[in-house]
Amino acid sequence: MKLDIPPIVGHRGAKASSPENTLPAIEEAHRQGATWIEFDAKLTKDGVPILMHDETLDRCTTGKGNVADHTLAQIRELDAGAWFGPQFKGTKVPTLEEAMALMAKLGMGFNIEIKPCPGREAETARISCALVEKLWPKSSPIPVVSSFKHLSLAAAKAHSAHLPRGYLAEELIGDWLEAVKVLDCTTIHPGFRKLTQAQVRTAKDAGYPVLVWTVNEAPKAKELLSWGVDALITDAPGAIGAAVK
Ligand code: G3P
Ligand code: MG
Repeated sequence: MKLDIPPIVGHRGAKASSPENTLPAIEEAHRQGATWIEFDAKLTKDGVPILMHDETLDRCTTGKGNVADHTLAQIRELDAGAWFGPQFKGTKVPTLEEAMALMAKLGMGFNIEIKPCPGREAETARISCALVEKLWPKSSPIPVVSSFKHLSLAAAKAHSAHLPRGYLAEELIGDWLEAVKVLDCTTIHPGFRKLTQAQVRTAKDAGYPVLVWTVNEAPKAKELLSWGVDALITDAPGAIGAAVK
C-alpha cells in the first residue's frame, strides 16, 4: 500500500495556536505549512461523526456533559472556539464531513483517530470509515485510521479493509509487534515518552512506518528523526517543521 505521509503532521489540527479539532485549527495547520493533520473522531448521540477529543463537552465547548448524550443539532448550538481565544468565538464543532471537505479543498491529508465513547468502539469506526470511503476523493492521499481501541481497529478492518490502520499506543509494551500484525495495521503510532531507538528499529525492520506523538520540542524531534521515525505528530507544525529542516 502506497502511503504518502509527510514528516510533520499537525496534532488536532494545530493545537498550540488554535482551538483543537476545529476547522480554524485545520486552516492554521495549513497556514503553518502542514500538509497532513491528525484529529479525533467520535459519534454524536444520533450517530454523526464529529471532531472531538474528550468524552465530555466541558473543556472545549460552551456545553456540558457527555458527547454521547447530545445530538448533532444540540452540539451545533455550542461554541467550540471561544474557550481558546476571543478571535475564535463563533467556531462550531465540525462534522467529519465538513473537515474532509476543507482538507480536500486545501490539498491536505489526514490521520483520523477513532476516539469512541465507551461501548461505541466498533460503531464509531464503522460509521467514520464508511464516510471516509464515501466522501474522501480517491485522488487525495489515502488517510490512515488509528485508534487505541483494538475493537475499533478490528471494526475498521472488517468494514473498510482497504483503509490503512495505525496501531496507536501510549507505550509499546508486551508483544506489541504481534498485536500490530494481528490487527493487520500498516503504521505504528507510539507516544514519544517511553519510545526507544531499539523499538523504532524493530518496527522499521518489520516494514512499518512509525508516527510519533506528541512531539513539541525541537531537540526531541531531531533525535526521533535520527532514529528513523517517519513522522512527528505535533501541536506546533510550523515551529517543529522549521526546526527539523
Ligand atoms: O493520535 C495521536 C494522539 O492524538 C493520541 O493521543 O489523546 O492526543 O488523542 P490523544
Ligand atoms: Mg488524537
